[in-house]
Amino acid sequence: MEQSPIQDTVNQQRIDALRELKAKMKLGGGEARLQSQREKGKMTVWERLEYLFDDNTFVEVGGFVELRNEHFGLGKNKIPGDGVVTGFGRIKGKLVYIAAQDFGVLGGSLGEMHGKKVANIMDLAVQNKAPMITLNDSGGARIQEGIGALCGYGDIFYRNTKASGVIPQISVIMGPCAGGAVYSPGITDFVAMVRGTSNMFITGPDVIKTVTGEEVSKDDLGGPDVHMERSGVAAYIGNDDEETLSWVVKLLSYLPSSNEEHAPVLPVPAQGIRQGQKSLADIVPSNANKAYNMLEVIDCMVDPYSFFELQPNFAANIIIGFARIDGISTGIIANNPKHLAGCLDVNASDKAARFVRFCDAFNIPLLTLVDVPGFLPGVDQEYAGIIRHGAKLLYAYSEATVPKLTVTLRKAYGGAYICMCSKHLGSDMNLAWPGAEIAVMGPKGAANVIFRKQIMAAEDSAAEAEKCQQEYTDKFANPRLAASLGYIDDVVEPDETPTIIRRYLWSLSDKQAPRPKRKHGNIPL
Ligand code: HXC
Repeated sequence: MEQSPIQDTVNQQRIDALRELKAKMKLGGGEARLQSQREKGKMTVWERLEYLFDDNTFVEVGGFVELRNEHFGLGKNKIPGDGVVTGFGRIKGKLVYIAAQDFGVLGGSLGEMHGKKVANIMDLAVQNKAPMITLNDSGGARIQEGIGALCGYGDIFYRNTKASGVIPQISVIMGPCAGGAVYSPGITDFVAMVRGTSNMFITGPDVIKTVTGEEVSKDDLGGPDVHMERSGVAAYIGNDDEETLSWVVKLLSYLPSSNEEHAPVLPVPAQGIRQGQKSLADIVPSNANKAYNMLEVIDCMVDPYSFFELQPNFAANIIIGFARIDGISTGIIANNPKHLAGCLDVNASDKAARFVRFCDAFNIPLLTLVDVPGFLPGVDQEYAGIIRHGAKLLYAYSEATVPKLTVTLRKAYGGAYICMCSKHLGSDMNLAWPGAEIAVMGPKGAANVIFRKQIMAAEDSAAEAEKCQQEYTDKFANPRLAASLGYIDDVVEPDETPTIIRRYLWSLSDKQAPRPKRKHGNIPL
């Protein structure tokens, strides 16, 4: 029914004035700054919000908040909103809270009131058990506000930490993110960056040149590729704002809104398991030294086209990501023999451990696909702390109480066998393929140690070594011994594995695994 026109002219004038003011407020620092943002290939803050949220669902909170610190003439730059739009709305129907910085207002810099707005919306997100997203586009701490800016950041870090494991937190870096600003994304669960416009560093190129004498460009210091390939900070790089925001929408579809919800379940695709494709027995070569791409295996195990990889270019020797199995959102962790033979190193351990902990915190079951020759040996790895980092993965899997399903496809040697969600770390399902080699080490290394004297004494050492290796392979390098001791629940055919995984997952849907009460554990960091 159409509303009748307002008769009270004073009220009508007030409403008109409010509309005019709100329209002006939406321009932030003004049309020229919005245009400059667009010329850099970036969307404006309101364009980003419109793109991200379902139509007409976004509600702004605190749009009138202004800075109150007038040092260094800041007062003349008072703009309602103080450089950040905060609020909530629906994304594909799901309630989500957001803080989106406006580079057009004082460079999106974070002062006292800007910080308070972000902290307030984070509190609302936690109280209402909904995901929190930040769109970062800022020159960092507002220099003129001194302690006001530092306090703003501190309040946010404190809340990021308290919200960790309670609601999913996603940071999208859509412009500069410098100084203290990087640590909020650093605490959150997922960081996405935009190629060409975003960067992250604790000190910029100028400061580095002054302090260490090193010369480096912004992109080489903290561009998206650096954070994807080297530091491991970024989970995803989009080519522009739209692509990056679309990634966030997709990511949300795999996540529950809080730790009080089950993992999301979506309708199961009509064809269920992918049909008419290459047999898994042909994708994984029988020769344990031959590489293959584990991504092909994952595609056969999960619902068609549902795999959503994270951090693809960091520690590519391990794959992590979400997928759906019978519609159920599931965390996938898999060694990838295509890179570094799929071994575990410092970065792979960190990457997998953090992902396992995220899934466990948010009730997302884990599927681990194992083909691992061991931990990467070497002086560099030892000095880099492979003991400490490898321990994180052991700890993360042991601590996890969500359903844990493991399939050993080929190799599972030594400490890495234990580490990749073995029965000993509390897995609920451990399957092995007939060619799986579960042993302390590979046949060649093992034979050279235990049969060394015998090989040396033989007339034909090479032939003797081969014979010894075969003997070892027959006895140990297969899944039978592990299965006979109950550490493998079943030895199964490759192509029946996806169906068996689905049955186990269904059987574990109400798994309870209470742990003794404690404040928190002490994961090796
Ligand atoms: C106040 C800032 C600002 C800041 C930018 N501006 N950063 N104002 N505090 N930190 C203002 C600029 O003065 C300018 O205002 C407007 O925003 C746009 O900035 P430009 O420099 O013109 O834009 P651009 O050329 O695109 O360069 C963007 C930039 C650069 C690379 C981000 O502005 C920059 O280097 N800013 C400083 C970054 C920094 O060092 N931040 C502090 C980090 S220390 P006008 O009015 O002229 O248009 C930190 C410690 C916190 O964060 C620790 C907490 C734990």
